Amino acid sequence: MTTPPTALMITPDQAIDGAPAVRRVFALDPDHGPVVAAEVLATAHGVCEVRVNGAPVSTDLLTPGWTSYEWRLRYAQWDATPVLAGRAGGRAVIEAVIGSGWYAGHLGWDGSKEVHGSERAALVELRIRFADGHVQTVGTDETWTSVPTETTADDLYDGQRIDRRISAADRFAAAPMPGEGGVRIVPFDAARLAAYTSPPVRRQEEISPIRVWRSPAGALLADFGQNLVGWTRLSVRGAAGQEITLRHAEVLDAEELGTRPLRRARATDVFVLSGADDVFEPTLTFHGFRYVEVSGWSGADEDLAEALRAVVIGSDLTRTGTFRSSHPLLNRLHENIVWGMRGNFVDVPTDCPQRDERLGWTGDLAAFAETAVYLYDTEAFLADWLRDLAVEQEHADGRIPIVVPDNLKYEEIGAMAAAMGSSLVIALWNDAACWVPWAMYEAYGDPGVLGEQYASMTGHVRRVAAALSPRDLLEGGFQLGDWLDPTAPPDAPHLAKADPAVVATACVHRSVVIARDTALVLGRDDDAAEFAALATRIGGAFAEHWVRDGRIHSDAPTVYALAIAFGLVEGTDRAAAGDRLAELVAESGHVITTGFAGTPFILTALSETGHLETAYRLLLQERCPSWLYPVTMGATTMWERWDSMLPDGTINPGEMTSFNHYAFGAVGTWLHRVVAGLAPAAPGHSRVRIAPRPPETGLTSAETALDSRHGRIATGWSVEGGRLRVVATIPEGVTAEVSLPSGFAVEVGAGAHEWEESFPGVVVRSAASRPWVSTGESEG
Ligand code: BGC
Repeated sequence: MTTPPTALMITPDQAIDGAPAVRRVFALDPDHGPVVAAEVLATAHGVCEVRVNGAPVSTDLLTPGWTSYEWRLRYAQWDATPVLAGRAGGRAVIEAVIGSGWYAGHLGWDGSKEVHGSERAALVELRIRFADGHVQTVGTDETWTSVPTETTADDLYDGQRIDRRISAADRFAAAPMPGEGGVRIVPFDAARLAAYTSPPVRRQEEISPIRVWRSPAGALLADFGQNLVGWTRLSVRGAAGQEITLRHAEVLDAEELGTRPLRRARATDVFVLSGADDVFEPTLTFHGFRYVEVSGWSGADEDLAEALRAVVIGSDLTRTGTFRSSHPLLNRLHENIVWGMRGNFVDVPTDCPQRDERLGWTGDLAAFAETAVYLYDTEAFLADWLRDLAVEQEHADGRIPIVVPDNLKYEEIGAMAAAMGSSLVIALWNDAACWVPWAMYEAYGDPGVLGEQYASMTGHVRRVAAALSPRDLLEGGFQLGDWLDPTAPPDAPHLAKADPAVVATACVHRSVVIARDTALVLGRDDDAAEFAALATRIGGAFAEHWVRDGRIHSDAPTVYALAIAFGLVEGTDRAAAGDRLAELVAESGHVITTGFAGTPFILTALSETGHLETAYRLLLQERCPSWLYPVTMGATTMWERWDSMLPDGTINPGEMTSFNHYAFGAVGTWLHRVVAGLAPAAPGHSRVRIAPRPPETGLTSAETALDSRHGRIATGWSVEGGRLRVVATIPEGVTAEVSLPSGFAVEVGAGAHEWEESFPGVVVRSAASRPWVSTGESEG
């Protein structure tokens, strides 16, 4: 295990426009034979890129990412052996280019920048091992120098300016450079240093434009066919000093680049040509975009398509869960969910990746976590984020911030945020503290995350206990509620139909139940008893004050969805609540009537109370608002609003109109668990439930596969000629509880299995006729 770096944090002692580099020319220690290994440890106030003798030592991007810097600053550990191996003595040069990143660039929607500090700085340590075992260490200290680089401006929101007339190669020569100055040591508490345990951000893929054309106003536009996150790489040759400007946007607006939804984020890169062959790649920024407008291009329009590539970046996560069906729009919806996740898992799980926001909004992840943990292996990524959640909570008097890392604590964020501050608990958002670790435990089966987050989880639910009204409800304070209910006024997304107190009480009740179950897993019986009692108190108050004759206070779909999904109504009340929910959905014409809180649970609430066909009508609805409406409008990611683009093709006039927000993608869980029919029945999928529930019309097949900790679990079904055929592949170590629509149930172990029954309609089962056949080895 590498020991943490002991180098110093340094910053240029001179004003440098754009991204400076700090560098050091040094001699390799002689007389120790050739270099056999080398390692670089690096971190920054800002983001850094380290090169040795001109060669990048890593393909990682935006190092050290974004954490709660006040308490946790990660450092990367890179193998630099390929750069130095075999060298025996002689001169070498190491540099770190320092971008402003999240530390010193724009952050938040009020124009704030330098939220964490104004001084970009880097801490780099190169450890070189020679053949005789000797180790030479070259670390940032006062002997380093500072120089300007070809990046003359950079910002995550605004973009990057690269002037290729400024040579990067000169920095790797021993000669002093124009503008070379000294550095200063930045006081820095090394106790904040933490090794990376989560995947770095890396390039993921490249995409070519599908179309290059001139807009009515004459702008040269390129369409990549996919709303994505990253940047464009341009290969070009032109006159020295010629400037090419690239503006990025997710949509077109009246056939021109639609930048209004970006608000203050300029998302503009400027490339200044050297006169020779240039390749520009702005790695100190990122944009959320599908379209690029290029000005200053002097070649033929059609040559741009060859010269331009979109580079998709994101945290380097392994894909684990897939879904396919016979319904092309549903398949595209699922792809949009995946793309929404890819674009917003760029080191921090964010609300959106394009406008002047891109923050770790906790409520968005609370809604989406269950889907996320299925699609990708997010265990290390989310564990890292949860550490920040806990450390922020610890330093905020037990309050969980609505964004993690919490930049808002430093910013002027307006009246609504002030109101949020006055609430002890902001349900759903704060509930991320319990919902996210629980989703991880369910998916991956390691109770370690529960142990690590235990103080955070229990701190949250004890705070909930303290915030309850005398009636044992969470009522009174400000709530974001069923955020973005489609019937809320566009400029007041918190004014939903569902009473915010009902939504809040239901959400925190779920957290208390999770805390109780967590305490049981960890053998903390006293705590378990405390939280069980608290859950009973809240649940009892909910029923007493808000449930009457099968109606739930405020009578909105979301309150039924939450009460059913979280077990707050039982017996006849549950059945009545399900019936009322189905009635409300039908009355709405089977369009969406729920926001962030209700949407992840409405289909489950319907299917669990006998309203499967209603659930499918809602799922397969194409009229706005619905999950498939954006797909019919050409969406390639999940939208923030159900109608981010209006049916007439214009952009929603609301201030808050992103085309890449994952929260409503939480429907992915129902696609995996109910449509395709694979759900965890024990933590880590050691037991699963194979229970596909096909609709009577609209779909003829669906399938899902999950690379679980036990291996690949796959299942699928198809309907033909009144017969339903279900297949499943179960790996060693996994038991599957199979339940088919007819009521047939069986438990099977490892192997390939197949069943058949008549569909639709209930099959009369008898051992003699056996309308279903299992071709695998079955257990139990
Ligand atoms: C974000 C949301 C977030 C919300 C809460 C918005 O600006 O984009 O996704 O959860 O604010 O206030």
